[in-house]
Amino acid sequence: MQTLDLPNPTIDEVEHSRKLGEVIKQEIVDAGGWIDFEHYMQLALYAPGLGYYTGGAQKFGEQGDFITSPEVSPLFAQTLANPVSKLLEKIPVAKIIEFGAGSGKLAADLLLALQALKKLPEKYLIIELSVELQQRQRETILQKIPDLLDRVQWLSRLPETSINAIVIANEVLDAMPVKRFTLKDKKVKLLGVEVRDLELQLSYKKADDEFIEKLESLEIEINNADLTYSSEVNLHIRPWVKSLSQCTNMAAVYLIDYGYPRSEYYSEERHMGSFLGYYQHRAIDAPLWYPGLQDLTAFVDFTEVAEAAIENGFDVDGFTSQGNFLINAGLAEVVEHVKPEAEIPHLQMVQQMKTLSLPGEMGERFKVIGLSKGLDENIPGFELRDFRYRL
Ligand SMILES: C[S@@+](CC[C@H](N)C(=O)[O-])C[C@H]1O[C@@H](n2cnc3c(N)ncnc32)[C@H](O)[C@@H]1O
Repeated sequence: MQTLDLPNPTIDEVEHSRKLGEVIKQEIVDAGGWIDFEHYMQLALYAPGLGYYTGGAQKFGEQGDFITSPEVSPLFAQTLANPVSKLLEKIPVAKIIEFGAGSGKLAADLLLALQALKKLPEKYLIIELSVELQQRQRETILQKIPDLLDRVQWLSRLPETSINAIVIANEVLDAMPVKRFTLKDKKVKLLGVEVRDLELQLSYKKADDEFIEKLESLEIEINNADLTYSSEVNLHIRPWVKSLSQCTNMAAVYLIDYGYPRSEYYSEERHMGSFLGYYQHRAIDAPLWYPGLQDLTAFVDFTEVAEAAIENGFDVDGFTSQGNFLINAGLAEVVEHVKPEAEIPHLQMVQQMKTLSLPGEMGERFKVIGLSKGLDENIPGFELRDFRYRL
């Protein structure tokens, strides 16, 4: 385990993790001695009251473990407001649905920007699994835009009746639990967790036929004896896209995340996979180190997203890097029009613009895929440098 140079957690954090560890150990016992990694990740991130996202960890921003685009700068939301406002004009009575709204910063900044553009949605729905984060989001909105609080509504699942919607999910797909596997000598093994000497330990089990079929559908060369390879599969993407389709009539969807098209995702070059943990801005490859205190995440296979979309009646309207998307959506103009008396000094804004959009920063690693349903034109944001052909 590579954990030697990590900052020490506090006594309270260690105790919090110990409690979650007990819950995980009990699940392992109940399951007969072994759970697969997806099950472990589900508990480590979302066990009620104890998981990384459902417990009280700071998570976002400089004091937390990682920083997302809406936390880097309000420019992200202000730029996204341009395509969203165009879509609000086009799609009758559209509600905005944001998944996994984190600290609530994107929601607050986006609503503020839409207010300035005089294009407020009737409702802004936040689908958030974590009660603790729902509370945090409410506080952010109350503090930043108290007059708009009544437009925001929190849900723990999608609405039952069909609505017209503009859907936004920033770094949500990467926070879904993944199955992890290893291929060696033409044999596929699934990574899981067991209890040995009273401690959680990683261990492998032979994969079943259903999982092998899934890998074959991803065109992984299982019968290539020279291939020694580890990676992951997110089996939650398809049902998630399906549920999105079931609850929408007309829809425009922006999914923003780090990831690749499938041919790159499963290329030999990436034979170590993309799974990582994050603790205080350090990447760790030690997923059992203090469960509940570190974020666990994997890159997104955007071809899987596109296939799921098409299967469920969406059009794939565009796929590009975050940098290209933000430029298409008017990032430069947003920066140009920032008033001199703005909260953030201009020089700092320019720096933030670079962080969000330059290839060496967040501009290339993060991608944006645009989906739509019931619209006669492609959704905005992909006019230049649309890379759908790579999917
Ligand atoms: C990495 S954080 C990103 C937070 C925020 N969007 C941002 O960019 O700062 C991942 C978020 O996704 C949420 N999440 C994961 N799976 C989800 C799902 N199926 N539905 C709704 N939210 C989900 C988590 O609870 C968490 O708030």
